[in-house]
Amino acid sequence: MTQPENDVLKAAQDNLWLHFTRHSAYEQSEIPTIVRGEGSYVYDIHGKRYLDGLAGLFVVQVGHGRHELAEAAAKQAQELAFFPLWSYAHPKAAELAQRLASYTPGELNRVFFTTGGGEAVESAWKLAKQYYKLVGKPLKHKVISRQIAYHGTPQGALSITGIPAFKQMFEPLVPGSVRVPNTNHYRADEITGVKGMTPEEYGFWAAERVARAIEMEGPDTVAAVFAEPVQNAGGCFPPPPGYFQRLREICDEYDVLLVSDEVICAFGRLGTMFGSQKFDYVPDIITCAKGMTSGYSPIGAMIAHERLFEPFKNGDTMFAHGYTFGGHPVSAAVALANLDIFEREDLLGHVTKNEPLFKAALDSLSDLPIVGDVRGSGYFWGIELVKDKVTKETFDAEESERLLRGFLSKALYDAGLYCRADDRGDPVIQLSPPLIAGQKEFDEISSILRNVLTEAWARL
Ligand SMILES: Cc1ncc(COP(=O)(O)O)c(C=O)c1O
Repeated sequence: MTQPENDVLKAAQDNLWLHFTRHSAYEQSEIPTIVRGEGSYVYDIHGKRYLDGLAGLFVVQVGHGRHELAEAAAKQAQELAFFPLWSYAHPKAAELAQRLASYTPGELNRVFFTTGGGEAVESAWKLAKQYYKLVGKPLKHKVISRQIAYHGTPQGALSITGIPAFKQMFEPLVPGSVRVPNTNHYRADEITGVKGMTPEEYGFWAAERVARAIEMEGPDTVAAVFAEPVQNAGGCFPPPPGYFQRLREICDEYDVLLVSDEVICAFGRLGTMFGSQKFDYVPDIITCAKGMTSGYSPIGAMIAHERLFEPFKNGDTMFAHGYTFGGHPVSAAVALANLDIFEREDLLGHVTKNEPLFKAALDSLSDLPIVGDVRGSGYFWGIELVKDKVTKETFDAEESERLLRGFLSKALYDAGLYCRADDRGDPVIQLSPPLIAGQKEFDEISSILRNVLTEAWARL
C-alpha cells in the first residue's frame, strides 16, 4: 500500500465517526474505504471491485462516474455557488420545483426543499401541525406510522420511526406519535391472528388498523399518517392490493393528511417517478431525497398539495421553518441534470422492463433452505432469511447476531457484493442496485448470494 493510502486508512480510524456503526467491529481490521465508482460498480482503496447492490444507500440511480453531473455542479458553482431560499429564489431551485411538480401525482405543486430525507419528514410533520392550526383544528398534531418503519433521525422523524432500539437512547422524543402494524404479508398469520387471509383481505385489515388508531387517539387530535410506498426497514414490504386505496379513504374520512415517505421509493426506484404512482394513490404530501440527484450532491424535498399552501398565502402567516442549505443551487442544478438523464435514457422504462428479470434472478434462490421470502418492487428487493422454511421460524437474537454481523455482511462484501444484511425486523438481505443495472448484474448478484448463503447455512 502507498503512504497516501495508509494515511487515509489511519485518518478514518482516528478521526471519522461512522454513522450507525459499531466501531468495535474495526478494532482489528481496517475500515472498508471506497475511493471511486463507475456504472454499477465501486472500487476500494486496494483497487478491488464491488457490485454496488445498494446504489450507495438507495441513492445512485443513474450509476457512478457520470461526468455530466459533475460538470453541472461545477458550472453552477461558478455561476452562483450559494444563495438561500429565505425570502429569495434562484433559477435552479425554481426550475427544479416546477419540474418536480410536473412529475407528481395530483395537485402536489408546492416544493419545500431540504438537504435530506429526515429533514423532509420533519418538515412534513411541522407543516401538518401548523396547517391544522391555521384552518381551525388546532388539536390535530399527532402522527401515525407503521411498525419497524424508518423515517430518519431528527427528533421528530425519529419519533415517527417505528424501531424501538433506535429511539430508546434518545427518549423522550417528540410526543404524539403512534404505531400501527406494517404490511408484512409473509407474516400476516402471526400479525393478524387469522390464518390464510388473501392479499386483498390483508390489505384491508392493515389499512383498518390505521382507522382504529385514529379513533382510539381521537380524530380531532390526529394530523397525519406517514407510510412508505414499499416499507424499507423490516425488508421491503410492498403494499397488499387495495391497501393505499383504503388508506386514502380513511384519511379523507377523518381529515388526516396522507404523507407518502418516498425518500427511497421516488425517482425510479420502483419504475415510476414517484412511488405512489406505482400503487396508484395520491398522497397529500410526498417526502423525497436520495435519488433526486443520484447522490452527486445532497438535497431533499417536501412536496405539498396546493390546498396545504392556501392558508400560507395570506397576511402575516408564514411557515417558520427552513434550512440554510435547503435547495442549494449546486444540488438543484445537479438534480435537473440527473432528471435529464432519466428522460434521455428512459430509466423508468428500463426499470419497469427489467423488474421481472431482477425478481426472477432473486426467486432462483428460493430453493436454498435459508431463503424464506423474496419480496419487493422495481429495483428494491428483500430476501428474508429463516431457520425453518416450513414453519417460517426466524433466528433468535444470538443467531441473528452471529449470522448477519458475524458472517453475512462481511462475506458478501468479500465476495464482491456491497448490499445490506439487516436485522431491524426479521433478518433480511436488501438489494437496490443502480437503475442502469440489467441481467448481467442480476446474475452476478444471485450467483454471489447463492455461494454466500449456502455457506451461511452450513455454518449455522
Ligand atoms: C423512508 C425514509 N425516510 C427518511 C429517511 C431519512 O433520510 P436521510 O438519511 O436523508 O435524512 C430515510 C433514509 O433512509 C428513509 O429511508
